[in-house]
Amino acid sequence: MANKIVARKEKRLIELAEWNVLKQMQQLINKKGINIADLYKIEPQRMQAMTHELENMYADFSKNSVTLEIMEALNNLARAAEVEKWRDLMYSGAKINFTENRAVLHVALRNVDYINNKFVPKSSILVDGKNVMPEVAAVLNHMAEFTDRVRSGQWLGATGKPIKAIVNIGIGGSDLGPRMITKTLKAYGKDGLAMHFVSNIDGTDITEVLKQVDPETTLFIIESKTFTTEETMTNAKTAKDWFLKRFNQEDIARHFVAASTAKELVEKFGIDPQNMFPFWDWVGGRYSAPSAIGLPVMLSIGKDNYADFLKGYNVMDEHFKTAPIEKNIPMQMALIGLWYNNFMGFQSYAVLPYDQYSELFPSYLQQLDMESNGKYVNRFGEAVNYATGPVLWGAAGTNGQHSFYQLLHQSADKIIPADFIGYLRSLNPVGDHHVKLMANFLAQPEALMNGLSSEELVKSGCPANLVPHRTFKGNRPSNTIVFDKLTPKTLGMQIALYEHKVFTQGIIWQINSLDQYGVELGKKLAGKIRDQIKAGQAGEHDPSTTALMNRLLGVNK
Ligand code: F6P
Repeated sequence: MANKIVARKEKRLIELAEWNVLKQMQQLINKKGINIADLYKIEPQRMQAMTHELENMYADFSKNSVTLEIMEALNNLARAAEVEKWRDLMYSGAKINFTENRAVLHVALRNVDYINNKFVPKSSILVDGKNVMPEVAAVLNHMAEFTDRVRSGQWLGATGKPIKAIVNIGIGGSDLGPRMITKTLKAYGKDGLAMHFVSNIDGTDITEVLKQVDPETTLFIIESKTFTTEETMTNAKTAKDWFLKRFNQEDIARHFVAASTAKELVEKFGIDPQNMFPFWDWVGGRYSAPSAIGLPVMLSIGKDNYADFLKGYNVMDEHFKTAPIEKNIPMQMALIGLWYNNFMGFQSYAVLPYDQYSELFPSYLQQLDMESNGKYVNRFGEAVNYATGPVLWGAAGTNGQHSFYQLLHQSADKIIPADFIGYLRSLNPVGDHHVKLMANFLAQPEALMNGLSSEELVKSGCPANLVPHRTFKGNRPSNTIVFDKLTPKTLGMQIALYEHKVFTQGIIWQINSLDQYGVELGKKLAGKIRDQIKAGQAGEHDPSTTALMNRLLGVNK
């Protein structure tokens, strides 16, 4: 459905003069090559131009295969692609999710102050002429009141006992965000309140969690924007059946709550509407962590920490909204990524947090980036003929160093830009662990960039036959992002940084980063196959699927 926003005459991305300037630069570089380490000498202002600070965050983008001239051309491309206009449209509540005709307002969820223990709107944001901020603040205050009751032990289960375990049931955006954030902020979590997350339709997931909890002291949160997602509804039903083996229907209200946009379906499930925490269609699933979907996070870290978490998001939102392109950290990150993706042909990038709490951050970002930008149709309804969303992967450092870093350093053909994320101060200062962790955090990007030449190896006495094996070509790019300490606030900043980066790239690629039609075909086919398996019929499929169906039907007989 095309709306007014895309009906204007606009140039296609590759028709922009700025795109073609970059193409020429790429051709030149293909001939001449570019050595990152040399750029510091050639460009005395490089450190100043390519490092950025925001509160206690320091982002060093200097170790990248981009000259300052290329950076300038990329900034010009962002201007020509009207990134600022689209950003402003997003903040204004315009319906920039044009295929679903929806506003895109995850920024409204954190447009709040926290004054005297209450969430209050910072400013108005209108959707269809209605200010959405009073409702945003009201839901946050409802969550806070509920959180206080559960954490203080005032909220009692059906037998009068306080809650000791939370089981969050959701998937995708209704799981990855709350799961990752709760885990990353574990140091701020409440002792005696166990946090569990169930997402997979594989019965193993819920079975293993239910083994660990007691129905008398467990609170289930059913999280689903649509309240129709098969995995979530199947797990929710299994949880309810398990609960009803010990308790009655009227006890459900004390043990089941929901975060959703679908009030009627929540009520139909048996959840008291008083215990439903709503959000709105202008919050995309993968952007929903700071909405009511954040309820498990608030239960774990408490409302004050949660307010700090939202503050962190808001700091980055304000920066993204106001900083000029050249100084705009998410935009600069997006442009460097775009240079690699579209001009250098680097198809994937790694996110490497040097922090054990953050080990789920890469998998959280996979949905954010790949569900947003893994698309081939532009806003004019045409297939594009350039690369769009990259493959994102990663793991916590230093663990990854002992598995896939070999390829990062010495692959014959693959260059994988990496984001290194670290914290100056440790939340668990044990002996010299943190010094060693941070030594690795600094050493890896340095090694990736500088490599090790055969001359140096020979000089150091390396046996001649091993010299080629031990040589590192270097010249592998990376970003380094450092915060003072991992806190709810810095995590909020960190997530918003990537949200806005992904948004910027989607705008330049002229795709809709806000829908996800690509997940639907598989879901639809699974529904058909499920019914066929239940009916004991193989149905009509290709030969490969038919053979597999027959094996499955044999087992299910
Ligand atoms: O399958 C993709 C998806 O629609 C995601 O975009 C979403 O986050 C997830 O499923 C869960 O959806 P819901 O919150 O409606 O259960």
